Amino acid sequence: MYDFRIDAADKPSLYRELAQAADALTAGEPDAIANMANVAALLWEALPDLNWAGFYRNIGGELVLGPFQGRPACIRIPFGKGVCGTAAATGEVQRVDDVDAFPGHIACDSASRSELVVPILVDGALIGVLDLDSPSPRRFDEEDAAGCVSLIQRIGARLGGMAMASLDG
Ligand code: SME
Repeated sequence: MYDFRIDAADKPSLYRELAQAADALTAGEPDAIANMANVAALLWEALPDLNWAGFYRNIGGELVLGPFQGRPACIRIPFGKGVCGTAAATGEVQRVDDVDAFPGHIACDSASRSELVVPILVDGALIGVLDLDSPSPRRFDEEDAAGCVSLIQRIGARLGGMAMASLDG
């Protein structure tokens, strides 16, 4: 059983603890889908005020739904479309305070009001994106973005890519 006590006083500590827990959860496991599933569950449990937390994978230049928590979602998203597709096409974090003001936002769940999408780059190749959605506007600030980026940097290789050959990497 995994029972992580994530109980931090501030956001930087919260994300430090989360990154440690994600590292422990994925250490030694070569299956990217299993690792995405556990990390999605971890984030869903530890981060307040979310209505969706999960992954889209880069399959042949298209984003395809991966493991997640929340309501059933759009299965395929072309690069450049919506918040996730923009993160995939640019390789840049997308932090959106108001999804209704984002041109081309894809409303998988009409409850979503703000969104944070972090590209997952392994050895320079985009293997997918982490997507967090909230029913509250302006849910994600710079500390959330920095925390998620650092978590993904730490365990991104275990979510796919050639680095999977090294279990300890
Ligand atoms: N809203 C996203 C689509 C994915 S879902 O929110 C799970 C977007 O515009 O990319």
